[in-house]
Formats: sequence, C-alpha cells, structure tokens
Amino acid sequence: VKSDGGNQTGKFGHSYGYGFLHEDINNSGDGGIYAELIQNRAFQYSRAFPVSTAHYFPINGASLSINNGTEPLSKALPASMKVSVGNSSVGKIGFENEGYWGIDVRTHKYTGSFWVKGAYTGVFTASLQSNLTDDIFGSIEIESKCADSEWVEHTFELTPEKDAPNSNNTFAITFDPKGTQSGSLDFNLISLFPPTYKDRKNGLRVDIAEALAEMNPHFLRFPGGNMLEGLENDTYWDWKNTLGPLKERPGFQGVWGYQQTNGLGMMEYLEWAEDMDLQIVIGVWAGLALNGDVTPKDDLQPFIDDALNEIEFIRGSVDTEWGAKRAALGHPEPFELNYVEIGNEDWLAGFPEGWNSYKEYRFIMFHDAIKAKYPEIQIIGSSATSDPAPEGATTGPNLTEGIKYPADAIGDYHPYREPDELVAEFDRFDNDIGHIIGEVAATHVNGATPPRWDGPLYKYPWWIGAVGEAVSLIGYERNSDRIPGTFYAPVLKNENRFQWPITLIQFTADAKQTTRAVTWYCWSLFAHHPISHTLPTTSNSSYGPVYWGAGKDEARNGALVWKGAVYNTTDNASVPITVQFDGVQAGAKAQLTYLTNSVGDPYAYNDPRTGIQIVDTTTKELTAGANGAFEFSLPQLSVAVLDTEAA
Ligand code: AHR
Repeated sequence: VKSDGGNQTGKFGHSYGYGFLHEDINNSGDGGIYAELIQNRAFQYSRAFPVSTAHYFPINGASLSINNGTEPLSKALPASMKVSVGNSSVGKIGFENEGYWGIDVRTHKYTGSFWVKGAYTGVFTASLQSNLTDDIFGSIEIESKCADSEWVEHTFELTPEKDAPNSNNTFAITFDPKGTQSGSLDFNLISLFPPTYKDRKNGLRVDIAEALAEMNPHFLRFPGGNMLEGLENDTYWDWKNTLGPLKERPGFQGVWGYQQTNGLGMMEYLEWAEDMDLQIVIGVWAGLALNGDVTPKDDLQPFIDDALNEIEFIRGSVDTEWGAKRAALGHPEPFELNYVEIGNEDWLAGFPEGWNSYKEYRFIMFHDAIKAKYPEIQIIGSSATSDPAPEGATTGPNLTEGIKYPADAIGDYHPYREPDELVAEFDRFDNDIGHIIGEVAATHVNGATPPRWDGPLYKYPWWIGAVGEAVSLIGYERNSDRIPGTFYAPVLKNENRFQWPITLIQFTADAKQTTRAVTWYCWSLFAHHPISHTLPTTSNSSYGPVYWGAGKDEARNGALVWKGAVYNTTDNASVPITVQFDGVQAGAKAQLTYLTNSVGDPYAYNDPRTGIQIVDTTTKELTAGANGAFEFSLPQLSVAVLDTEAA
C-alpha cells in the first residue's frame, strides 16, 4: 500500500460515510424505531387502508365503533372511537390496545395521553396488563377534565411496579359509564411512550436507536425509497403533513401495505440525525409516483417551490419563512444539509414516460432551482449512470439509455444483488462520475434464477452475502474522492410484519429480542475505522480472493487504514497477506480486527428467534517487521481492518 498523497473523501470535510436509508418499510418506523406503543392511535386512514378500530378490544362488554362525526378532534384526524355501554356491559367499561404485536413493559416511566369528547364526572384508569394472565403491571387513575361537546386532552405518567415476563401485554383505559351523560365517550389520539433515545418527546425507541448508533453510522438518507414517491401522485410523502402537534398530522398511505401515522416526521428525522451526528441526504418529491403517475412539466413549479421550502425549513435561518416555522417547533438552530436527492429510482417510476421526463427536463428543473439558491448543496440524481439496470429495462435503446448528469451532480446506485455479483462489481466506480450508493444489500443467494425478483430474498442476511457486500463496500470506499457514502437498505425489520427480510437490525416488541444481523457487524467494523483520504495502492497480486482498499484519517492524526475481505466460495485455505504503508517503520504497531463465521456454514445467519449469533470477532496487535511490513493471514470468507498510527 503506497500512502503517498491520497485524495480527500467527499467535499464537505466529513469522513467517508457508512449509513442507511430509512423509510417506513417492515414497520421500521411505526411499530419500529418510532417509540409510540399504541397501534392505530388516531384511527387514521386513506384510500388503501380504511378506518377501523383494529388493534382495540372492548373491556366489560363495551361497544367500540368508529365515529365520523361533525366535530372531529382536528381536520387531520376526522375519525375517532366511540366507547359505549354495550348490551352486556357491567361496571367500568373501556378498551385495551394490543400495541404493535405486544407491548414491552418495564419498571420505567411511560408517558401517555388521550383525548376525550363527552361529559364525564369520574376517573379514567390507565393500565399496562398481561394479555395472558390477570397480572396488572402498573396502573394510574386520571381525573376527568371532560366537557360536553369539546375535545379535552388528558395526560399521565405511569410507572409499572414490576417488569412483565414477556411482551404479550396490552394497554387499557376504563371509565365508569354512570358518570357520563349518554353512556358513551369519544376517544382519539391515544398515545403511550416509553423513555426515548436521548429523552426526545415523540422520539425513538431506545434499544433500536442504540443498536444503530453503536454501528457508528455517518449518514441518514430519508424518507425513501419508495415511501417518498407514494402509491399515486396525490399520496406522496408530503413533509408538511409531518410537522407540529400530533393532532395536526393526518397520517400517510404507506407504500408497504400499511397505514402510517406521520409520527416519525421531518423534525423527528432531523433530530435523529442530530442525536447520532449524521450527515443527511433528503429526497425531495419529483412528481413521479410508484403507479406510474407523472406530474406534467407545466404543473411542476409548485413542487419545485415545495422542495425549496423544505430545504429552507431544514437549514434556513430564523429570519426566513420556513426557518422561522422550524424555530417555532423548538429548533432555532439550522440543521446541516449538504445533500439533496431529486426523487427516487425514477427510471422505474412511470416508465417510460416518467423516466424520459426525468432525463429531459424534470431533474434539471429541480437541479437549477436548488443550485440557484444553494450553490453549495450537492445535488443527487435518483439513478446511476448504468440505470436502468438490465432487469429494470423493458425495451428500446432510447428508453434504456442512462441519464447524463451535469458536471456538478452525482448519481445514486442501488445494487440489490447476489454476493457473487457484488464482488464482480468491485471496480464498478473506478471510472465513473460520483454517486452515492443510496441503497445496497446482498439480497439473493448466488445462482438465483433470473429474473431474481420473481423469487424470494434470502430469509436473513447470511454470512456469504455479508462478505460479498463487504467486498463491494471496499470497492466504493476506495473511490470515495467521488463517492461520499454508502447506505444500507432496508435498515430495520420488525419480525412480526415485514416486506423485505434482509436488514441490519431485527426486532420485536420485546427489547430483549433486538438483534444485529451479520451485515451489521461488517458495516460496523468498516464504519468504526473511517478515512478522510483514499490512498493509492500497489500490489504484487491481483484482486481476488482478497479485495482491499486503503486510506488515512486526518481526524485521527493521519491514522492509516487497510480494509480487506477474502471472498472465495470453493477454497478453505487461509490467505497470507503483507501490508506495507509508505513511511511506516519496523516496530510500528497496528491493530488487526477480522470477522469470521463461527459455524462454518456460509448460509448461516444471526437468528433473532433462537438468539444464535454466528459472527466471531478476532483482534490482534501486530508489529511491523524489518521493512515496516505487517504480516498476517486471513481465513476464507472473512472481513478485516488493519489500523495503525500515522507514519
Ligand atoms: O429498500 C427497499 C426499496 O428498494 C426502496 O424503497 C426502493 O428505493 C428500492 O427499490
């Protein structure tokens, strides 16, 4: 490895970034990292997902029904739940909510609220209780503040006296119907939060956020992904619907098979980035939807203005219109925003009309407007120079031709591949314009019959997939003078309902069952050894089975870093490796860390159901020999980092 010179990574002075795309897929937002425990808390609905009392169950024979009355809680939340005395009601009545496939109950403080309409004199009882036994882990009485024909919010704190043995629990609210005028009350926005990551109100689930933060990520791309695009043109993810009090958020017709709450909104994403010190890439809606809807050129200006407002909301001073709105929501300091992406995978949206419009005018209209106001922002197009990828292409040379971006723009590449394919693409970016790798994952096992998307993704991230992915990560990082970062997707997966099985972190309602997939370990290893500059390398052997790249990190006094992966699916012999950095003297020390698979089966995975973990981490201190070289060997299918002090 020759350490003379070296190119700076990116252009914003941050290290090469390992990060992730977050959109709400796999209940990774609602029922995932967004810490709200009540499912269907505000009876939100859309064309695709009708309103219902799903996830609520009556207590003591109460009758539960949807009320679409003339006096809703807000314009955004037009439906509520009427709780009435049913035919068989006796004593106190009410409802329980089953949460997102259960509720984790611990002896920490839960913060709750609910809105009620209807006269009531008496108390409400809120409890966390077992769904299997008569156990009530904690409950609290809340004095009614109700008034007739008026929505009144009730808030409470609840600290259970004991932990529940499992997450098969519910949250209940009961009241005495004798204290009401009509035998019924209307409820809406029933909310319960456990303690959140960094104690944010309306914040993130601690165990999931900590597992992500421990990976040492540098980048958050949001809000998609398909979620940004929406199913139809009038149902895209509109950032303005996600701001302010929860009762002003209408919810979102999710694109992954479920209604979303909008609880994890723009401010929550920005605070997430702030709390984990992440650079952000926001995707702005480009007027193309998943069903092929295309917003025509003449109707595009309002959406370009909207993108400019969104940028101003994020990074404008308090003296700007949208910066002032952000300040009013509690964050006068602008957030850092250096990267804006126009749309998502637009060679797939509205093909061919939408894609052609993207190439002909759409991208450039957004690009020019944003650049005119924010010349320093890095604009990202939603396709790679090689898109449409062969599987995405339909027919016709003019339709499959890639986009030509202006010189100041970069592309976005999304390789969801077999591990062999990821390895074969090791040099994919050696001679290309800049890109982010906005989504990448090994998704299918080697030899999947094309077209691979007709078949299932592998059931969990598996070892050989993770190593193939690591090879591609090295390929991207060694081009990081043009590639600012690499993003895993989809990053989180609720084991109870998911659309894509591969992920970094898998979880259920029970925080004890949150596990890191094998991929997490590889990404974490690389992310914990960032580089600020790539270094040119020479070698007496060609790439394969060892793939490598090198860099230095000015933030750590010029620490020198070699990253490598050994990918050979037929040979088990370890591979001897010698790494020499220019200027490093005999006797210098380096730390070698490598990951292997403890069970030998290349298809093995970390199993959240059994708790079996298969990744072994080995750490060794190495001393440079007479010529300043570090000698070691790496097992087959291993992923490694060698990190040493500056020469
Ligand atoms: O990560 C899952 C999906 O894959 C994303 O929403 C989309 O951008 C890609 O096709």
